[in-house]
Amino acid sequence: MCGIIGYIGSRQATPILIGGLRKLEYRGYDSAGVSVIDPASGGPSRVIRCRGKLANLEEKLTREPAAGTVGIGHTRWATHGRPSDENSHPHKAGPISVIHNGIIENHLALRAELVTAGAKFSSETDTEIFAHLVEHALIAGAPDLTTAVRRSLAKVHGSFAFVVMSDKEPGVLVAAKNSSPLVVGLGDGENYVASDVTAILAETRKVIFMEEGEMVTVTRDGVTITDFEGNARTREPKMITWSAVQAEKGGYKHYMLKEIHEQPRAVADTLVGRINLEADDVSLDGIELDVSKIKRIIFIACGTSYHASMVGEHLVEAMARIPTEVDLASEFRYRDPILGPGDLVVAVSQSGETLDTMEAIREAKRKGAQVFAISNVIEASIPRLADYAFYTHAGPEIGVASTKAFTTQLIAITLLAIHLGRRTGTLSKERARELLGELVALPNKMRDIVESGAQIQAIARRYGNANGFLFLGRGSQYPIALEGALKLKEISYIHAEGYAAGEMKHGPIALIDEHLPVVVLVPRGPSYEKTVSNLAEVRARQGKVIAIATRGDNEIGGHSDEVIVIPDTALELQPILTVLPMQLLSYYVADFKGTDIDQPRNLAKSVSVE
Ligand code: G6P
Repeated sequence: MCGIIGYIGSRQATPILIGGLRKLEYRGYDSAGVSVIDPASGGPSRVIRCRGKLANLEEKLTREPAAGTVGIGHTRWATHGRPSDENSHPHKAGPISVIHNGIIENHLALRAELVTAGAKFSSETDTEIFAHLVEHALIAGAPDLTTAVRRSLAKVHGSFAFVVMSDKEPGVLVAAKNSSPLVVGLGDGENYVASDVTAILAETRKVIFMEEGEMVTVTRDGVTITDFEGNARTREPKMITWSAVQAEKGGYKHYMLKEIHEQPRAVADTLVGRINLEADDVSLDGIELDVSKIKRIIFIACGTSYHASMVGEHLVEAMARIPTEVDLASEFRYRDPILGPGDLVVAVSQSGETLDTMEAIREAKRKGAQVFAISNVIEASIPRLADYAFYTHAGPEIGVASTKAFTTQLIAITLLAIHLGRRTGTLSKERARELLGELVALPNKMRDIVESGAQIQAIARRYGNANGFLFLGRGSQYPIALEGALKLKEISYIHAEGYAAGEMKHGPIALIDEHLPVVVLVPRGPSYEKTVSNLAEVRARQGKVIAIATRGDNEIGGHSDEVIVIPDTALELQPILTVLPMQLLSYYVADFKGTDIDQPRNLAKSVSVE
């Protein structure tokens, strides 16, 4: 997830680009850059870019100014290639400058073809490929930049928003969208493109939201929208009435709600390039684990990442039959853990900076274990410390309560489990094929749930005045019960407990009366009947039951006060769906109570203290 902006008009482009990038820095912040051209002088574009926050670029621009009235700017959140000056956008090939948000899935094949055709690459990014494709299309006879971009688009697969500029045609910007956001801003004798309205709101409120499979040619005086085949598309501009703050949240009331809704997209991004349907296998970005050397797996993590790790224990044991344990990073290293070269430690962390997790890794490495890190932030301390780094690509998460970072961790862990299971031979080709098919279908099923927020909001209002909540689940739903309770207490400040449903009778049952809402995770599966019995025990004591069940379960309504349904999926993937109602329920309860949802009291997004 990166931020992109383009300007074409009669004013100096650089200050407008930088103003826009400042608003986009929340989308990515590991490097930034601009490419600016002065059509009057006809000179080549000037690319200024550097690693680090936008302030570094601003500082560089004071030493090396970029003058001109046409330009593009980018703030990067690395996916392919570490954060560095060379990997920063814009990327140039001959006269072509390109910025990109998204992932080109077939980048390796295209890169090989372009190298054979004589292209010289100067970065590790997938984006640079597009600059070369456009340059080659022009050399091969495309009459103008728009046609060259169109011909290049026919070659790339994946998610993208591109903005392309040419030194030879400085009067146009060409942009295209597939899955990644893109908006066109209309001014008077000047126009804009950007990855979101926030970037251009200070300049114009008249915008056109681009749709999937559309491209646009932007000049000072107008815009021409077509599909990728060149058929004209017409659309009326919209006037944006959102405040700047609302716009940053994409029109959602809070970042957390925006991030909950981003999950189908985020999960699709985690899967990009990692599923190999022909081989019934997954690719861990080139990592090959030697299962003959792994005798035991130990997950270590904190907070929400710990809950993802608990699900991981189920997945790895079920698919790879390797003994697996889970430990809290803050406990692990203080008990002098028994570790050695046969152990693979899987460290899970959204921020990649949690000190307890980092110290646990150091302890594991000291004792000779191998470390596999799962992180959302590229080149953060934890993936850098580890032997293997695998990224979730969820995009920056602003809300303190983790949502999309969690579901993408579950995806990354599922991919790891499939990788191991295929190599130990305990996961059959057939089952792997079924699971991969289910993984691909998952984003749409997730969309189904996050879009059913109105029902959950109504439930949240009915129970939002309760003094406490209990969450119950069995098997891999137990960690989701813990996560549901954690989410609720983090943002609504209501006391909540997550319990293994079978343990209820050993304590929490004493809490149950007509005032206690009990959320029971009871999707179809081997523990279904047993969990229904627990649910009946709650009801027998007048507890209020909110059941999370599989669509088509006609029985559960008779045992529950409320039923929230999820689509059916493979047992292994159910936690990724059942957690979504947990997130929405806690969000709406907190919203009902009016708490500070994005920055709950006393909590921090990245915890670098012990
Ligand atoms: C903090 C965050 C949580 C997160 C935990 C572990 O408490 O607020 O959302 O789960 O740290 O962080 P990590 O970055 O290692 O996943």
